[in-house]
Amino acid sequence: MLKGKHIIVGVTGSIAAYKAALLIRLLIKEGAEVRVIMTPLAKEFISPLTLATLAKCPILTDFFDPTTGSWNSHVDLGLWADAYLIAPATANTVAKMAQGIADNLLLTTYLSARCPVMIAPAMDLDMFAHPVTQRNLSALRELGLAVMEPAAGELASGLDGKGRMEEPEGIVARLSDLLNPKPLSGKKILITAGPTYEKIDPVRFVGNYSSGKMGFALAEACARRGAEVLLITGPVALKTQHPAIRRMDVESAAEMHRLATDTFPDMDGALLCAAVADFTPGKQARQKLKRGKDALMLELLPTQDIAEAIGRMKTGKQFSVGFALETDDGQESALKKMKKKNFDFVVLNSLQDPQAGFGYDTNKITLLYPDGAKTCFELKSKKAVAEDIADELSRLKLDSLADSPTI
Ligand code: C5P
Repeated sequence: MLKGKHIIVGVTGSIAAYKAALLIRLLIKEGAEVRVIMTPLAKEFISPLTLATLAKCPILTDFFDPTTGSWNSHVDLGLWADAYLIAPATANTVAKMAQGIADNLLLTTYLSARCPVMIAPAMDLDMFAHPVTQRNLSALRELGLAVMEPAAGELASGLDGKGRMEEPEGIVARLSDLLNPKPLSGKKILITAGPTYEKIDPVRFVGNYSSGKMGFALAEACARRGAEVLLITGPVALKTQHPAIRRMDVESAAEMHRLATDTFPDMDGALLCAAVADFTPGKQARQKLKRGKDALMLELLPTQDIAEAIGRMKTGKQFSVGFALETDDGQESALKKMKKKNFDFVVLNSLQDPQAGFGYDTNKITLLYPDGAKTCFELKSKKAVAEDIADELSRLKLDSLADSPTI
């Protein structure tokens, strides 16, 4: 979501400057172009060499280079930037920003920047709580700056309280929110993710290799575009980040079906990404099954198809998108699935593509539409695939779905 964005990272003299390394690395990973300005004191806390290497660009501190006479223009920098992120921001820098003091390159660039500015304060709890600091922060907020509230916890001083700079992942997510339009804002989206476990006895189950990575990446991508996401997930080892995601954990296909169909009427649409078991044991043993001489016969009964149920419930104002994971060239069966389950489009991924599907961090998808149109994508990280799918959803112009007939 920060691809191609020009970001200036301003680093000031706080112990939290060590987190700037990770922050810059994350911004570069997101595809941003980064310039770094350090205050003279910041260089005492983290080496410019580290930050320059991660940012792939020399660090700026001085107004000019006395050896070459070259000028670091704060005006040009300010105009170049799509966003100026000052992290960590010390009480001193916050105070100077609030007063318009411009005695270093970081501050002159702040006064020259026309782009959105975000600060992530970091300081000891009493400095943060001091009325003067609070007044300065309020003044900056009033000027339209985004202030990333520090977290509470153990501080470098050994004291415990509010003042720790927020973690880099959270800062990048907030920056991304700030810079990106919210085409899904006001939309409620249900996402199913992960595998389901179908119990055989109290300690055994029938399951599958789904990791849930695709569904979780989709949840983040939709939430970042402004949607309120309800994520119903089977057993996975993943965490959600965005505060707009409400997560509900289930185990079996029957539980997922119940929750999904109960909540769908209140949703604008659903992304059905879960690898729901197609069969479940007809009987669950109450006690752990013991091995004997005889073969154990398991009777497996078909589960209810959640996507199909949602496809039937769907009103003209709602959408549903499904996934088709096929082991052969699956276009034909994906199209059949789309019809049967009444999807607005279907995401096809083939297990024949190397590095795609279960467990991998990458995926290669084709989007198929009811009118026969299709869009093919390259092999990408699942996060990037999720961005593509969420962009497609945003393009669907959800409001116009009201006019389309349901099958
Ligand atoms: O028929 P198949 O399982 O291949 O269909 C895949 C699509 O249907 C996926 O979107 C999957 O999440 C959904 N599905 C479902 N409930 C089931 C089985 C599949 O929602 N019981």
